[in-house]
Amino acid sequence: MTQQFPDHAAAAAAPGQRLVGAEEEPDEQTIESALRPKALGDFVGQPRVRQQLSLVLEASKLRGRSADHILLSGPPGLGKTTLAMIVAEEMGAPLRISSGPAIQHSGDLAAILSSLTPGEVLFLDEIHRMSRPAEEMLYMAMEDFRVDIVVGKGAGATSIPLELPPFTLVAATTRAGLLPGPLRDRFGFTGHLEFYDVAELELVLRRSAGLLDLPISTEGFTEIASRSRGTPRIANRLLRRVRDWALVHDVGHIDARSCAAALDMYEVDARGLDRLDRSVLEALVHKFGGGPVGLSTLAIAVGEETETVETVAEPYLVREGLIGRTPRGRIALPAAWDHLGLAAPEG
Ligand SMILES: Nc1ncnc2c1ncn2[C@@H]1O[C@H](COP(=O)(O)OP(=O)(O)O)[C@@H](O)[C@H]1O
Ligand SMILES: [Mg+2]
Repeated sequence: MTQQFPDHAAAAAAPGQRLVGAEEEPDEQTIESALRPKALGDFVGQPRVRQQLSLVLEASKLRGRSADHILLSGPPGLGKTTLAMIVAEEMGAPLRISSGPAIQHSGDLAAILSSLTPGEVLFLDEIHRMSRPAEEMLYMAMEDFRVDIVVGKGAGATSIPLELPPFTLVAATTRAGLLPGPLRDRFGFTGHLEFYDVAELELVLRRSAGLLDLPISTEGFTEIASRSRGTPRIANRLLRRVRDWALVHDVGHIDARSCAAALDMYEVDARGLDRLDRSVLEALVHKFGGGPVGLSTLAIAVGEETETVETVAEPYLVREGLIGRTPRGRIALPAAWDHLGLAAPEG
């Protein structure tokens, strides 16, 4: 859990820690775990996943058995790790944590599986990064609660079957599409997390502000939530920057204007765009008349690597309907002109 994964996007965004990046920063673990809700009832938003998960857990408790294996998928920062911990908490079961990148050999997985206690919850983060041989071992463990341990090498190798205690696998992935079908099929429940709306993020922020003992007005929460890109992790991060700002400026009661001033200072604008996002948008509108323009030309215009523009800035701009990808290149959509305070050209 402590290592940084060399993700495309993460690697590109790494210099200077991006305030509006959805990946967990290395120094954020302590504060994040302090803000994690511990019970399903405190988990904000995601009503469908919450309801379904609650049913799965309730039923397994009634049957007195460990719950079905659970797959949680969705973009970073939406609450996958939090939910995994909640599952263990709600089941009153111990929790073991590992991740796909940490399991490179099937032996690594065998060591974890064979030391599980009955009913334990095993959380495997970034499961799509597990090696193939480990994956195959996992199929069998999930289905039959059994693994074959291979002892020795070459012609003298034998495999020893090992019974496992019943356990619940909770796996998380940002890339459900990369999971092989047979693995996906072995989960009894799959929850897909969606981006949060502003009202839900306000609730996340309200809860966190309570824990951090920060007096913020209702409009202040709205201001921070609107800039948080639908992502609780970003909301909590912006909240901490607002806290710093208020401390330094000796502001007792934090209103919307303080929140806006603080986040403007950190160059996170009203829609949650940062400097890079805005420079892409401005180049597209001002230098290329709204496009279409090729990605590499656009990247040169903003002085960034093509990959940075494509993986760091573009996904959110596209999601927000600010820019579009066409076969002839990138175009500014009407919302982009609007956001820059300009009138979109006719047609
Ligand atoms: N639904 C939620 N309610 C309250 N806080 C949340 C919620 N989802 C995420 N968070 C907060 O956001 C941060 C990131 O969540 P996390 O579970 O680590 O995301 P993921 O594992 O999907 O990247 C945590 O500090 C957590 O407290
Ligand atoms: Mg996580």
